[in-house]
Amino acid sequence: MCRPDNFEVRYSINAWMDPGRPTFPEIGLSQWKWLHDVIVDLGHRVDLIDPLPGLPDMVFAANGALALGERALVARFRHPQRAEEPAAYLEWFGSRGYREVRQAAHVNEGEGDFLVAGGTVLAGTGFRTEPAAHAETARFFGRPVLGLTLVDPRFYHLDTALTVLGDDEIMYYPPAFCPASRELLAARFPGALAAEEADAAVFGLNALSDGRHVILPRAAGRLAGRLAERGYEPIGVEFTELLKAGGGIKCCTLELHGTPPRSLSGPR
Ligand code: ARG
Repeated sequence: MCRPDNFEVRYSINAWMDPGRPTFPEIGLSQWKWLHDVIVDLGHRVDLIDPLPGLPDMVFAANGALALGERALVARFRHPQRAEEPAAYLEWFGSRGYREVRQAAHVNEGEGDFLVAGGTVLAGTGFRTEPAAHAETARFFGRPVLGLTLVDPRFYHLDTALTVLGDDEIMYYPPAFCPASRELLAARFPGALAAEEADAAVFGLNALSDGRHVILPRAAGRLAGRLAERGYEPIGVEFTELLKAGGGIKCCTLELHGTPPRSLSGPR
């Protein structure tokens, strides 16, 4: 995770960002801290990357890379406003014993558009990550990649429209995807939880699951109820301020999948 020390909406690179609307950095920071503490209280280890001045979107750590086992493929952002972030992630992974660390050759927004579901990597395109980056990710990690096309500008990253709940279970907002991608998802995940518009519109799908607990925005109340019916433990957190930048809970967390290098395993 990356502390939002410099949170503000100074430019607009997605449909949520309006630089004319006031932001409250101290609210953003306290909501972020609350999320951080909820994750730690659930028993998970959280490592931090230092925020760099002048990069307000760096709080959205999910976009920094995709990390699986001892390999990390670092992002290459579509917009120049975020182009300086990858250097920090190359340094972070490089100094922590990762065996292979490289910046993607194609536009690739890390876990914003790449989600690990069991042995498969679900990969979004349409707004940010390029299709060529899907093939690059498949080659780099030696994993099958399922490409999915996003069509609604409110849901411009895959992680805004789909949450991996467990190896074989997802929840998603079908209208965010093109018809062919909807068919792919329905075939691959027949038991998936299809979210309603009201929950998707408050970034209910930008959620974080450890297979049992699902941390999601408090505003996504109906979705929380449906998760509980399926045996998950939903944990609602207030996460309204960073949404002004088009970011939510999952956006703030980059997961280290598989078994990370020894320097990162074990308790903090
Ligand atoms: N303002 C950021 C951008 O548009 C938000 C990134 C949200 N991150 C995510 N993983 N969906 O790039």
